[in-house]
Amino acid sequence: MSAMMTNLLEWVDARFPLTSNWKAHLSEYYAPKNFNFWYFFGSLSLLVLVLQIVTGIFLTMHYKPDASLNVSGVPVAFASVEYIMRDVPWGWLIRYMHSTGASAFFLVVYMHMFRGLLYGSYRKPRELIWLFGMFIFLALMGEAFFGYLLPWGQMSYWGAQVIVNLFSAIPFIGPDLSLWLRGDFVVGDATLNRFFAFHVIAVPLVLLGLVAAHILALHEVGSNNPDGVEIKKKKDARGIPLDGIPFHPYYTVKDIVAVVVFLMVFSVIMFFIPEFGGYFLEYNNFIPANPLVTPPHIAPVWYFTPYYSMLRAVTVNFFWIDAKFWGVVAMGGGVLILLFLPWLDRSPVKSIRYKGPIFKTALGIFLVSFFTLGYLGMLVPTPGRTLVAQICTVLYFGFFLLMPIYSQLDKCKPEPERVTE
Ligand code: HEM
Repeated sequence: MSAMMTNLLEWVDARFPLTSNWKAHLSEYYAPKNFNFWYFFGSLSLLVLVLQIVTGIFLTMHYKPDASLNVSGVPVAFASVEYIMRDVPWGWLIRYMHSTGASAFFLVVYMHMFRGLLYGSYRKPRELIWLFGMFIFLALMGEAFFGYLLPWGQMSYWGAQVIVNLFSAIPFIGPDLSLWLRGDFVVGDATLNRFFAFHVIAVPLVLLGLVAAHILALHEVGSNNPDGVEIKKKKDARGIPLDGIPFHPYYTVKDIVAVVVFLMVFSVIMFFIPEFGGYFLEYNNFIPANPLVTPPHIAPVWYFTPYYSMLRAVTVNFFWIDAKFWGVVAMGGGVLILLFLPWLDRSPVKSIRYKGPIFKTALGIFLVSFFTLGYLGMLVPTPGRTLVAQICTVLYFGFFLLMPIYSQLDKCKPEPERVTE
């Protein structure tokens, strides 16, 4: 049997680089030996990506992107989701896996990005890993936005209406642009069909390509670690990093522990609290879309609320242009500014462990403002809340824009030669 397997492997290897890739990316990919909790979220993001694609394929088998009304006067798209929930065998499970998976995706990706921020993983030579990551983040936001229209509930409908209308605030081209995006004067069947096409094929293809590029870039330069030390600088006689261990089996086994814990938490939410108090599935979305009735309070799902808050925080017109446009600029800028992080941080060390008090304080303020913005984005705005959102938006941008200055002024500790654990 074993001789047969060896022969088969040789036959494959003569035609396809199977063993060489296995070695390059797993059994002989040397990762720093001091990975901690924060390093689980890359593999967990991969896991959730696969989960979303697989459950998405099964949902597509029964879902219908059709805004017309059926004989009972219910939109066909909405009714097809109800059909999946009630009549398709195990349909409820597949749908809840997908809806819980959407929130889980953002949770693990936010943790993954925060790890980058903590340990300076975006710094030279990992700028491209970070940039590919940011493009993944943008694609993920698009994917979630397009997917949210599909159940054709009140929040799907009015959320899409609000966001597409934002484009009409752009001077000169705005109104034509939003008309072009919608494919109609209001969100309608044409919008639903194109969002479906983007959600099930266009964006997932882009995501998969970007994830491949992200990991290839990572394996080109090697992983960073909680000490921010470059392990490739100190190698043994065989050229193996002294502080490195093979990714397989050491980290494949370690990651399985994280996968088990993650799936336990995921299952508890999915089986017992799938709506998660209205944060994962909003209550208004259990009402079919009605273009004639605007819900009293339109709020996006939790993962968009920090940026939604920035949009609402801008209330004054600048020059001759409407505040709405500047709100869009703040919201877009809030996401896009992260792209420049590798060039904004001028600190002599990478990891937060060796950074000084100014950077640590700035990071703390950034975190508090990000969470506050996220919280405020879920609430109905009042003058007081808008003022807090304005302060937090300024603090959020201040963290990035002032970084070239304070990261140089900071008193850092010396980075060690080798990893410390
Ligand atoms: C579908 C989403 C994503 C997947 C599947 C993914 C996957 C991975 C994996 C498997 C790793 C190596 C393991 C680890 O270091 O945790 C990694 C590393 C990394 N990722 Fe991602 N990632 C995603 C999104 C992002 C985003 C949105 C960013 C930031 C904008 C990002 C930035 C990074 C960085 C900087 C590293 C290197 C970390 C280091 O070596 O310390 N990733 N990613």
